[in-house]
Amino acid sequence: NLTGLDDIVSLSKSRGFIFQSSEVYGGLAAVYDYGPLGVELKRNIQNTWWKAMTQAHDNIVGIDAAIFMHPKVWEASGHVEGFNDPMIDDKQSKKRYRADMLIEEYIQKLRDKGKAEKADDLQQQLDTTGTRNGLCEDLYEIIMQEEIKAPDSGAFDWTEVRQFNLMFKTHYGATSKDDEDAIYLRPETAQGIFVNYKNVLDTARVQVPFGIAQVGKAFRNEVVARQFVFRMREFEQMEMQYFVEPGTDEETYNNWLNKRMEWHKSIGIREENLRATPHPDDKLAHYARAAADIQFNFPIGWQEVEGIHNRTDFDLSRHQEYSGKKMEYFDQKEQKRYVPYVIETSIGLDRCTLMVLCDAYREEEVDGDTRVVLKMHPKLAPTKVGIFPLIKKPELQELAHKIEADLQEEYTVLYDESGSIGKRYRRQDEAGTPFCITVDFDGLEDNTVTIRYRDDMKQDRVSVDKVDEVIRSGIKS
Ligand code: GAP
Repeated sequence: NLTGLDDIVSLSKSRGFIFQSSEVYGGLAAVYDYGPLGVELKRNIQNTWWKAMTQAHDNIVGIDAAIFMHPKVWEASGHVEGFNDPMIDDKQSKKRYRADMLIEEYIQKLRDKGKAEKADDLQQQLDTTGTRNGLCEDLYEIIMQEEIKAPDSGAFDWTEVRQFNLMFKTHYGATSKDDEDAIYLRPETAQGIFVNYKNVLDTARVQVPFGIAQVGKAFRNEVVARQFVFRMREFEQMEMQYFVEPGTDEETYNNWLNKRMEWHKSIGIREENLRATPHPDDKLAHYARAAADIQFNFPIGWQEVEGIHNRTDFDLSRHQEYSGKKMEYFDQKEQKRYVPYVIETSIGLDRCTLMVLCDAYREEEVDGDTRVVLKMHPKLAPTKVGIFPLIKKPELQELAHKIEADLQEEYTVLYDESGSIGKRYRRQDEAGTPFCITVDFDGLEDNTVTIRYRDDMKQDRVSVDKVDEVIRSGIKS
């Protein structure tokens, strides 16, 4: 169900931002590939994040940990035991559903029928049971008592509710057969940071408070996964763990929540499409003392893009317990020893890319026509400059290629000489290209070109040697 995302999905495919994985074989659900424009956009977002974290903070360093980790990591982290969704199978259709989502759909039906009181009552039961890690028996009870039917078969013939672990499991080594060699694809990048905390402390000349940043793939066998790159089974996370002295955690948590909100605005996301929502205590993940979502107003509604969590000393203490290695920090000045608390900022790179596309997407009426334009921040734009000779004449082509070669040193540039100028502008509007340069015959005389701006379609006449300056300042703004 991609309702609301249709425009973004079809533009993504037609312009080469995002394709379904293995499309020629009918696709693989909840897995996506990035095309030529998508990979540039995603990389620009990643670079902007990386710079804001590492370059802009002298006490935040980066790492790049492996996807495979020692199986004990996931015991210590609580993921083997606690990273579950409650599932129920319809015996007739053999289809599997998330038990809590079935109940939510049923509640919605009650509301549609005007049975608000009953719906509220059931919602309260569901909320106290919780969602992920929800008590299976309680959910089963609700489904049975309410006689909730399977959406497809319409039957009332369920298995019991079971916990379904979201981690992908595989076998490690060529000879392995049994569960002893089972290894997981990481469901979050954070654990790679926790198990390297000591290495970084011993080598990077950092002191608490300090942070470690990382970008990398994560894998979750999500049950509900039909919302384009919003919820995928293979995705990328950009996470930063900030190690602090216990007692300073609440203040640091608030600071990071504010800072991260500012970052979203700095990449051009419109303020009215952003909000921060704290998690109620009974909905916190197994590791968190406090948590808030930064949410974006997607076409599918307000949804989380980033999570800010106070993970306390949960992870480091558990790794200390399971590995037998000390995870303490010694504060020289105060002469005291403690296991640091961790404030985490965790954002999905794919989900952030989807946010940027949704926020940028506009349909505008221009001269009785509809122009589709991606008004994203110029620093994120996949192509920075389009370069067009007015017509296919050697003198124009030559100057256009010369400008292309000069700009290519610094920017992603696209040379295009096919179709009318108007069509070429429209193509670049859909790609989000902030600047287009047209070379015409007048320009050959006085060494000038026309520069056309994506957002207001205004055009300026500038000297060829000023082009670089105009583009540079346009990207910065
Ligand atoms: N280390 C903490 C952690 O992983 P999370 O709230 O489970 O927290 C953080 O995930 C972010 O990762 C989310 O805000 C979201 O942007 C992204 N994310 C999580 N699951 C995802 C999925 N299945 N597909 C795409 N992005 C996902």
